[in-house]
Amino acid sequence: MQNLTLTRPDDWHLHLRDGEALKAVLPHTVHQFARAIIMPNLKPPIRSVADAAAYRERIIAAIPTGKQFESLMTLYLTDNTSPEEIISAKASQFVKAIKYYPAGATTNSDFGVTDIRKCDRVLEMMEQVDIPLLLHGEVTDRDVDVFDREKVFIEKHLIPLKERFSNLRVVLEHITTSDAVQFVLATNKIAATITPQHLLFSRNIIFQGGIRPHFYCLPILKREKHRLALLQAATSGNPKFFLGTDSAPHTRNSKESSCGCAGCYSALHAMELYASAFESANSLDKLEAFASFYGPDFYQLPRNTEQITLTKTTWRIPDEVPFLESGLVPLCAGQEMRWQMA
Ligand code: NCD
Ligand code: ZN
Repeated sequence: MQNLTLTRPDDWHLHLRDGEALKAVLPHTVHQFARAIIMPNLKPPIRSVADAAAYRERIIAAIPTGKQFESLMTLYLTDNTSPEEIISAKASQFVKAIKYYPAGATTNSDFGVTDIRKCDRVLEMMEQVDIPLLLHGEVTDRDVDVFDREKVFIEKHLIPLKERFSNLRVVLEHITTSDAVQFVLATNKIAATITPQHLLFSRNIIFQGGIRPHFYCLPILKREKHRLALLQAATSGNPKFFLGTDSAPHTRNSKESSCGCAGCYSALHAMELYASAFESANSLDKLEAFASFYGPDFYQLPRNTEQITLTKTTWRIPDEVPFLESGLVPLCAGQEMRWQMA
């Protein structure tokens, strides 16, 4: 039996939702990770430090008894966010970043920013107090092909943004293209998170033998050459690339629908999925730093000290886990995994 012992990892991009949904999914994340950056795209979104404080209390109340977990909160940037809110965010200690969603880009992004230039006063303050900006890096222009949305975002918005605010620390979230990898490598003060699905699959999986809604997330999976560029970046040992699952629970009914929601659920077996991806690149020795070191280093937080163990053994990912009215289908449901976390 082969074991892999690692420093306990953290998830630097996670959707926990609220209420009953939060209670159903949080134990999975708590089992795997010590901390997570909690996405603010609730309905309505978490826009103020007061919203974040209340949400954080609800998360703490849902942590299974006897378990340790730290929620690192984010605020949802809108056209109306004030520079003063940024100062209170920094002072709060528990708000660790500000999240930018282009209006209409993804699940619950109706309150998102309509034009990032409208936020320049806020971005200036973020640069000044040194709080990171997390980007959902996609344009939403109707005439831009859905597979080009990340690349066009980089060209049209991110390059000018980094020119205006060269000292602003930025995370390009859930990157999906070689264009993003190259941009992150070439630019100062920018890092990127990478999801398990973007390391394991190209867009072909969405159409394998029919349409497979559980592989639909945003930004959408891309061509194989992009997957290979992401796998190379994740396993390169470069601290600019670190773990962020983007685990995004939706009920089975809302995924298996004529207009299905975007989001893959990976909190149940995130480390197993990442281990498979790293193993496929013969780079299991690079997993610990990607999962447990580079994230805290970027966020200027201490690395965790406890450990976890992954064991080489075969088990079957459940078809569904209990969740609200119609269950939750995990990524790769029903398939065999070759790693298991104790
Ligand atoms: C996320 C969600 O469901 O909240 N969905 C997704 O496909 N990743 C939103 C997001 O991060 O884009
Ligand atoms: Zn997300």
